[in-house]
Amino acid sequence: MDRLLIEGGIPLNGEVYVSGAKNAALPILCAALLTEETLTVSNVPHLRDVTTMLTLLGQMGVQISVDEKRSIQLTAANVVHPEATYEMVKTMRASVLVLGPLVARLGQARVSLPGGCAIGLRPVDQHLKGLQAMGASISMEQGYMVARADRLKGARIRLDLVTVTGTENLMMAATLARGTSILENAAKEPEVVDLAQCLIAMGARISGAGTDVITIEGVERLHAASHQVMPDRIETGTFLVAAAATGGSVRVTGARPETLTAVLEKLRETGVRIETGSDWIQVQASGVLKAVNFSTAPYPDFPTDMQAQFMVLNTVAQGQGIAKETIFENRFMHVQELCRLGAHIEVQGNKAITHGVPHLEGASVMATDLRASASLVIAGLVARGTTTVDRIYHLDRGYEAIEEKLSRIGARIRRVH
Ligand code: EPU
Repeated sequence: MDRLLIEGGIPLNGEVYVSGAKNAALPILCAALLTEETLTVSNVPHLRDVTTMLTLLGQMGVQISVDEKRSIQLTAANVVHPEATYEMVKTMRASVLVLGPLVARLGQARVSLPGGCAIGLRPVDQHLKGLQAMGASISMEQGYMVARADRLKGARIRLDLVTVTGTENLMMAATLARGTSILENAAKEPEVVDLAQCLIAMGARISGAGTDVITIEGVERLHAASHQVMPDRIETGTFLVAAAATGGSVRVTGARPETLTAVLEKLRETGVRIETGSDWIQVQASGVLKAVNFSTAPYPDFPTDMQAQFMVLNTVAQGQGIAKETIFENRFMHVQELCRLGAHIEVQGNKAITHGVPHLEGASVMATDLRASASLVIAGLVARGTTTVDRIYHLDRGYEAIEEKLSRIGARIRRVH
């Protein structure tokens, strides 16, 4: 099993380019199921989750090819197995994103019910509630959600809570429904907007994506299109926090600053200097960092996917900082590992309270999920001496070429087998 060896204590400096967004690419690849014509997707990050999604789509019968510019062409002319097996859903929860498109286009889908995962229970009741409102019949058969419908019909659906993939699944399903659907309390995440733009390019009639009410007027069929995946705002934020925490100066290019407003605001509050251009963000740390309080919430508020990384910054900042997690029940798995590096953190319910220390010390730590892994890498870059991060397969799910990118901005990091 691979691990990362990090020699910490070196400020990061230079320029790093951000990859396409994992959480936009995954639903967009699934959108290919909505048409028998070819969907071409560019700026798809090279990640394990993307490979898993392509395997899943390939298993169903989608024809997939990659051109010389690394654009992916997907043609779902013959979907022979409208199914996501337990093996696939267990490997990647986002597999559930095939449910909406399959039932909308083929009138049937068989998708394994996802279990709980490292960060929380993560049920999919809202996805199912929405599909039922559109006329699908859903039954549970041996751990599988089996959905059937002749043709979905438009419906007004009020989601009980804000769900990102739930909104995406229902938005995709509604594109081919008969009549108009209105999704209320929809997720406003930029990835939802990116998916909507792709669907619109395929001929869907969608308005309101990016607000909490999305209206979808169903059409008879969707057609071929090309779409470029948006830049990854969480990867962007991860580099910015790493630069700030190590006392460095880094410019992240190919980014979309307007998708990171809450994170940039909190970074400024720590005392670092932030400058932005249309497609770049520069962070420059000088002097002592101040610990800050933050609370995760749906977009446009502070993203839960940045909570673990930002907490590292607080561990070496002056004073007390409180990180409150409101999205997932169990997203503090990194806390114990950070404490092994000398951080002072106490967990009280959904709050993690950090008391800043002058420095962290290298140690062996173990990654538990994707964003926790990213936080341990940042902590390793901050800590004096050597840190070994184990189980980095989590990291490979969501960060493209992370050690190469970090090396280019001065990190001493290498992968060992
Ligand atoms: N929820 C329900 N019922 C549902 C759906 C969600 O109770 O039917 C709950 C969840 O248990 C959670 C909350 O609602 O407590 C929000 O979950 P959401 O559905 O928004 O999460 P998700 O769609 O499964 C996506 C991202 C996650 C990210 C969350 C929150 C993708 C593929 N995944 O997950 O990304 O943390 O939104 O922003 O888009 C990651 O990239 O590391 C990651 C975990």
